[in-house]
Amino acid sequence: MPEAAPFSIHALELGPMENFVYLVHDHSSGRAAVVDPAWEVSEVLALAGQHGMRITDILLTHSHHDHINGIGEVLQRYDAQLHLMKAEAQFWGQQLDLPTLHHGGDEIRLGETVIRALHTPGHTPGSACYQVGEQLLTGDTLFVFGCGRCDLRGGDPEQMYHTLQDMARRLPAGTVIRPGHNYAEHDSSTLAEQVEGNPFLHFDEVDRFTRYRMHYHDGHRHSPYGPVRRGEEMPD
Ligand SMILES: [Fe+2]
Repeated sequence: MPEAAPFSIHALELGPMENFVYLVHDHSSGRAAVVDPAWEVSEVLALAGQHGMRITDILLTHSHHDHINGIGEVLQRYDAQLHLMKAEAQFWGQQLDLPTLHHGGDEIRLGETVIRALHTPGHTPGSACYQVGEQLLTGDTLFVFGCGRCDLRGGDPEQMYHTLQDMARRLPAGTVIRPGHNYAEHDSSTLAEQVEGNPFLHFDEVDRFTRYRMHYHDGHRHSPYGPVRRGEEMPD
């Protein structure tokens, strides 16, 4: 019999932008990491309380307001360690109280649970995804049948192209994608399903990806996103 995972992941959809806030719960220690605390933090704290979790860590996928506006409220209740990519801290420029700054590939230990931080630039220079077992918390890098915009400050469609190509090539096909916003028909997906139906994973040429991301997509496709057939992303 396969051993049960040492953790569970709880998702809450909060706020006016359909953000997903995640709690990664390590069963053995009762510790929890909250990923992108924002909006109705009281709901996050209540869920942690119901399951007997102690929030010891705060993980940021990036520094945009809709992913971070609850940090202060979490810190009022718990003495939690803040984690983000070094590149994101530099981009953000915010004075942070002794954060742990990561590079791609770093491992964060939460009791018996190991969380691996992947550096996935494109939406912002220091965007991160967090890998926990077979699950990947993707922030605004990869959405279900979508990806984060690259036209805001610090966004870069070329970086996003390479980030998404690397993810599709390197991560196991069965990886469960758990995004930072609920913009699709489903709240999660597998990497295999995304390689098949996510238009942003269909391009094999960076210029065409960039044109699609920056000039075509938003005028032609609206959430909730569903699959797109290969070759039907945009006319030539
Ligand atoms: Fe964002």
